[in-house]
Amino acid sequence: MSRFLHSALKGVLKPSELSSLVSGFDIIGDIALLRIPDALLESKYLIARAVLDGIKPIKTVLKAGGVTGQFRTRDVEFLMGEKKTRTMYVEHGCRFIVDVNLVYFSPRLSTERLRIANEVSPGEVVVNMFAGVGSFSVITSKIQRDCRVFNIDINPAAHSLAIENIRLNHLEKRVIPLLGDAKEVIREKLVGTADRILMVLPEKSHLYLRDALIALRPTGGVIHCYTFLPVGANLDDFIERNMPKAPNFSVTVNKSIRVGEVGPKLYRYRIDLVAR
Ligand SMILES: C[S@@+](CC[C@H](N)C(=O)[O-])C[C@H]1O[C@@H](n2cnc3c(N)ncnc32)[C@H](O)[C@@H]1O
Repeated sequence: MSRFLHSALKGVLKPSELSSLVSGFDIIGDIALLRIPDALLESKYLIARAVLDGIKPIKTVLKAGGVTGQFRTRDVEFLMGEKKTRTMYVEHGCRFIVDVNLVYFSPRLSTERLRIANEVSPGEVVVNMFAGVGSFSVITSKIQRDCRVFNIDINPAAHSLAIENIRLNHLEKRVIPLLGDAKEVIREKLVGTADRILMVLPEKSHLYLRDALIALRPTGGVIHCYTFLPVGANLDDFIERNMPKAPNFSVTVNKSIRVGEVGPKLYRYRIDLVAR
């Protein structure tokens, strides 16, 4: 990604200015999203012009704010090109309609989506608690054809797009979209059903571990819990502090991996828990 940005902006910005843009640059379909540091705000249209002219598939350039609120969305400002926030994004052979203004979506989780999909075994039931537009669910059930995925999200726009994306990828029989708070949806519909739980809400996943345990089959299963931790954090402490008492299960950490940098010395981790 940074290669595209470097070649588009070479000669437009100084190398130090360019490197300050790289970490906040994403391409989703034909939309370029740029986090522009304050020091470069005066040059935002110049930057947008260079991106639009220099990176072939780009039709729209938007300035992006930080991810905020319960729906984890970001404010975007139109800079140049076609005035739109909705686009088609392709990943691992699946197609997704994404509205970058109304829903959370990050192409940076692409490797993670493939890793999770490859962990699922035939016949599994997966509960994706914070599922957005359905990217993890769709890719999982495209790769592991003999599984069922419950795709929960509280954002009505994400839920509508998930329905569209499930249809677009012909997965109506295997991915079930559910609108609502994961905590309530699980208690109403999914108690004791799941072999695997996906919790991609790193700011808050740990607050829903009790609900994840409730969704697991009585025989147990796997929980993929994403969280943000500073460099050098002690994972045992994290589990000790956040794991609710689970009388029916013994819960252990199977593995934890760092899956991206999200700020200075702050990382996204995936902690894989096994409940038996
Ligand atoms: C970080 S995004 C992840 C989306 C998706 N898993 C992905 O990777 O594209 C978190 C999602 O959780 C949803 N969310 C937040 N709180 C929720 C809750 N209590 N129940 C269900 N969904 C929730 C947000 O609307 C958002 O779409």
